Amino acid sequence: MSLESTFLQACAKQPVNHIPVWYMRQAGRYQPEYRAIREKHSLVEICRIPELCFEVTKLPVKQLGVDAAILFSDIMIPIGAMGLDFEIKESVGPIIASPLRSKADIDNLQVFHPEEKLPYVLKTIELLKDDLSVPLIGFTGAPFTLASYMIEGRPSRNYIRTKQLMWSDKALWTALLDKLGAMIVRYAKAQIAAGAAAIQLFDSWVGNLSVADYREYILPTMKNIFTELKDTGVPLIYFGVQTGELLTSFAQTGATVIGVDWRVPIQAARARLGYHFAVQGNLDPILLFAPWEILEQRTREILDAAMDRPGFIFNLGHGVTHNDPPVAVDTLRRLTKFVHEYTEGK
Ligand code: CP3
Repeated sequence: MSLESTFLQACAKQPVNHIPVWYMRQAGRYQPEYRAIREKHSLVEICRIPELCFEVTKLPVKQLGVDAAILFSDIMIPIGAMGLDFEIKESVGPIIASPLRSKADIDNLQVFHPEEKLPYVLKTIELLKDDLSVPLIGFTGAPFTLASYMIEGRPSRNYIRTKQLMWSDKALWTALLDKLGAMIVRYAKAQIAAGAAAIQLFDSWVGNLSVADYREYILPTMKNIFTELKDTGVPLIYFGVQTGELLTSFAQTGATVIGVDWRVPIQAARARLGYHFAVQGNLDPILLFAPWEILEQRTREILDAAMDRPGFIFNLGHGVTHNDPPVAVDTLRRLTKFVHEYTEGK
């Protein structure tokens, strides 16, 4: 499987037969089959039942013809395993019962053993590894994004408490980030050992930081994480939203593939990163609601800009959104087919 995978070839900046495609949040509520499962099971329940999680992960591969699967889980699952209870509230997002408020709270967080605390995640990966015809992407949240939920206790607009801790007690902030870093390394390695062929670190909200703050308070931990994961040999994808100005710093993290959102043209992203990275992105996910002609035009523009050198993976600039009425499954299927056909043999 792996040698023939366009996704892995693109991650390694090798020539491909066609540009590989996958979508962040390719499993979710836009799919009628997923909604039917969610009527009976909560999101966390799906994650905890390997046979169910296996089906949900596979569904978009069958339905859309994408070139990679992403493990169905959530960035909050390991936060629970560290000892913070959470729930995911529909249309709100993650809520933490007792957010981090003191040094003692941070000291109490456990850098757990995934085999002990999250065996169901690893079991799901093992089931998928033996079944999928495309590579499986494992993932975890990145330290800033995880810390923001753990400190704010809920989705946040301004990250006031998070930034307050960062600026007011650097030692404690560093202790928290390093603890998260140690957890992330362990969890990612366990996913790789179970069969994940690549790892994506979701740093969705890190784009809220200035370049100076990113470099001072986040970059050292990111470097440690990617240094420790380097020997696994799998592609390491680092993604965030509104990170245009951070890309030159992202280039120093040790990630091998950089995910960019739709605000940065691919050529500009490559110029900022330097040309030894594979790049993933970056269609505005709201274009999935546009007339097909516009969606196709913007997609063609991305591909024309990206295809002049190897190392490009087509994706959205952020996840498939949940809306009512939802994105049509047919739109994503047609988009996948369009990217494959437009880039075939070029
Ligand atoms: O991409 C995939 O198909 C894999 C599954 C996946 C989920 N969450 C499932 C999920 C992945 C990769 C994630 C990551 C995740 N979770 C991130 C980083 C990526 C991003 O979108 O920025 C974040 C910030 C979270 C936290 C989270 N979980 C939020 C903000 C929400 C949405 C809350 C809402 O109802 O609007 C969730 C819930 C969630 N996680 C859903 C899915 C499919 C929504 C559907 C449901 O509740 O069943």
